[in-house]
Amino acid sequence: MGGRKSVAGGGPATLKSQAICVSSMPSLIDTFTAAGQGHVFAHLDRLPETARQRLLSEAAEIDLAEIDRLVKSLVNASSPATVDLRDLTPAPYVSRPEHGGDRSAWEKARAVGEQALRAGRVAAFTVAGGQGTRLGYDGPKGTFAVTPITRKSLFQVFAEKIRSAGRRYGRPIHWFIMTSHQNHEATESFFKENHSFGLDAGHVHFFRQGRMPAVDFNGRILLAEQDAIAMSPDGHGGSLRALERSGALDLMKSEGVDVISYFQVDNPLVRCIDPAFVGWHLLSNSEMSSKMVPKAYAGEKVGHFCMQRGRLVVVEYSDLPVAMQQEVDPGTQRLRYLAGSIAIHMLDREFVRRMASGTDTALPFHRADKKIPCVDAAGNPVRPAKPNGVKFEMFVFDALPFARNPVVIETRREDDFSPVKNAEGIDSPKTCRDDQLRQFARWFKAAGIALPVDASGLPTFALEISPLFADDEGSFAAAWARLAPKPELREGLCLA
Ligand code: UD1
Repeated sequence: MGGRKSVAGGGPATLKSQAICVSSMPSLIDTFTAAGQGHVFAHLDRLPETARQRLLSEAAEIDLAEIDRLVKSLVNASSPATVDLRDLTPAPYVSRPEHGGDRSAWEKARAVGEQALRAGRVAAFTVAGGQGTRLGYDGPKGTFAVTPITRKSLFQVFAEKIRSAGRRYGRPIHWFIMTSHQNHEATESFFKENHSFGLDAGHVHFFRQGRMPAVDFNGRILLAEQDAIAMSPDGHGGSLRALERSGALDLMKSEGVDVISYFQVDNPLVRCIDPAFVGWHLLSNSEMSSKMVPKAYAGEKVGHFCMQRGRLVVVEYSDLPVAMQQEVDPGTQRLRYLAGSIAIHMLDREFVRRMASGTDTALPFHRADKKIPCVDAAGNPVRPAKPNGVKFEMFVFDALPFARNPVVIETRREDDFSPVKNAEGIDSPKTCRDDQLRQFARWFKAAGIALPVDASGLPTFALEISPLFADDEGSFAAAWARLAPKPELREGLCLA
């Protein structure tokens, strides 16, 4: 492996922040005024010097031509661009062996993936810039405690899975974590305080995603404060340009990494490093690959993998008409649009670079109407009771139509997907805890030990298995076999 770049000894490494060049004040103000956005500086004269500098540096981050384009196409247009639903058909996917897939092809994929891992070609990548609003948790979502007994955070669970994979394949795995301006420092501190959870800090890399200003329904940029623009993260699709801008892609290149294993911060069940998935991606010569699960029910709130005029696309649950979500395939009697996206992808490094360059390959922005706290023209705070403006976000799955040979593979939901999104109900801390417990019980069962479980497979007592002890059925059976003496199977059992 080549020498490391941007790697600080001792603490986790931060990659480059987005370069911001504060142009001379008058010309910046003139440019904003010419673009009809001069009100951004309405309070400038009253601000102390540090606040002026802060406002100017935020303004310098904004690509006014991009905002103008988005306002014209998504905000002012008499009929704002809607999602194109013409010519959609269900996307094909590679079935798992138990659902008719070719077992030997899966075995080959696994072997190819393992070889790539042993060669150090794969990095893990977590998008952790979101705000966790639905969960009602104040702090970086990755710091949220999820495991049943020892209350490990999401970040610790991923760290242990990545450590375990690094050990198994004899190559430490680089882990890239995308934060946002709101949670960057808190995320880094969390890793420092916890000594990167046993990972070599030089292999953990943080970078901030980009930001976009929010606008009102007339396309005017909103001020959050007299000295601050209402900026928000540019969506997980912003990860592609942030990977490039931060220097992460160059670092990967110098380290011999060309496959990026992408997952969301909200899903502790994810197989951060899945050799079979790596293998399918490489064998298909794919630039971007995805995992699907058969939807649990018609209205499940996931994206749908579809084909559209020869290209793979994901259509969000909020965009796919209910009638299509419910359509049944007469042949199989299953949902026609069955393939749900669980936001797990494999990305080719140079594909990300191409997407980030923005030439003919730019990700589209989506419009989200939101309640945006702001100040009015007189500088008084406004706390809106209904949406008062628009945020712009990019989605990473919008890169799929640009990718060569994108492949979708089926995965087992119970081994890859149980996100924590809501405080209660579906996809909550409770459902996620239960899904972890069911997984542990399945591993015991596969090793020949029947834990007492209820009809849903949930053990009657809580226990926990660290990814460092085992991270799948096979490694559990081996680790359990080595244990002597065997621990008592009881409430609170922790295997670490
Ligand atoms: C997302 C997907 C959906 C998929 C589901 C699976 C979208 C629009 N939808 O839904 O297709 O079926 O997950 O769980 O993404 N993030 C950032 N920066 C941002 C915004 C988000 O890093 O600016 C990260 C979050 O930290 C999180 C992930 O992206 O890890 C998902 O974001 P979220 O908005 O929660 O997506 P969902 O609506 O749950």
